[in-house]
Amino acid sequence: MSAKNGSIKLVAGNSNPALALEIANWLRLPLTKAVVRRFADMEIFVQIQENVRGSDVFIIQSTSFPANDHLMELLIITDALRRASARRITAVVPYFGYARQDRKVGSRSPISAKLVANLISRAGVDRVMTLDLHAEQIQGFFDIPTDNLYASPVMVRDIKESSDLTSVMVVSPDVGGVARARGLAKRINAPLAIIDKRRERAGESEVMNVIGDVAGYTCILVDDIVDSGGTLVNAADALIANGAKDVYAYISHGVLSGGAAARIASSKLKELVITDSILPTEAVTKAANIRTLSIAPLIAEAISRTASEESVSSLFD
Ligand code: R5P
Repeated sequence: MSAKNGSIKLVAGNSNPALALEIANWLRLPLTKAVVRRFADMEIFVQIQENVRGSDVFIIQSTSFPANDHLMELLIITDALRRASARRITAVVPYFGYARQDRKVGSRSPISAKLVANLISRAGVDRVMTLDLHAEQIQGFFDIPTDNLYASPVMVRDIKESSDLTSVMVVSPDVGGVARARGLAKRINAPLAIIDKRRERAGESEVMNVIGDVAGYTCILVDDIVDSGGTLVNAADALIANGAKDVYAYISHGVLSGGAAARIASSKLKELVITDSILPTEAVTKAANIRTLSIAPLIAEAISRTASEESVSSLFD
């Protein structure tokens, strides 16, 4: 791997050590020795234990649960690196927490995704690399280069290996996710259906209208985030009620908070496939119908290309 901005250093926060190590292995680089620990009052303390002067440093840290702690770690690691004279700092944030708060949802509410982008920039980051941002426009919240990677090549490979594509239909679980689902459907040459959720009257439960004839198809739900699992479980119910043969889901970020893993396990979903952008909990690892695909090779390749000033977008051509 050639480097154009000084020697390459990888620094891992505590959010996903397994992913950081796998990325390091793909790049055949060691993780930079660093201490990221707590004082008794839970303040975060960071010390980079190697010389990084003049280096091209990549910090690997998802701002996943506990989001505020992991965000703060990212900011403090950045500060430590900047004060240690790193030449360039890239925040590699596979899961960008707070992304769903990307607009004012009502009077006197914040745009927290913009605030988080400001914090990361002001801490001293030069570039950001992330994966399947909740909304592409969030790139515009940063005034520094931002590469949004896509898990779709990894998902497409897996779908091609495990499904009979002649009877597959890709489904967006809501109207907001149509562009993402359409992109994947195009890559596997499959038809597309959409679930339109409507609440006809206040106080009445949401009605799921399936747009498209899914009868007899193996349906693949595609989304960026599975959090409580409610969206997927309801979508799977609606698809089965409309005659779908089986329902699978491919989701980039397995937030899977609270009892989500159990909810998915007892749902009509045959399998939920997520990436390891977020460290899976024990409940997720043990769930019989949840499988994880590694995003490490893709991120490693993007880091390598960034370091050698090669195109990153051509990874997705
Ligand atoms: C929302 O816009 C996202 O794309 C996901 O559909 C949502 O975050 C899923 O949440 P849950 O699993 O809690 O239904």
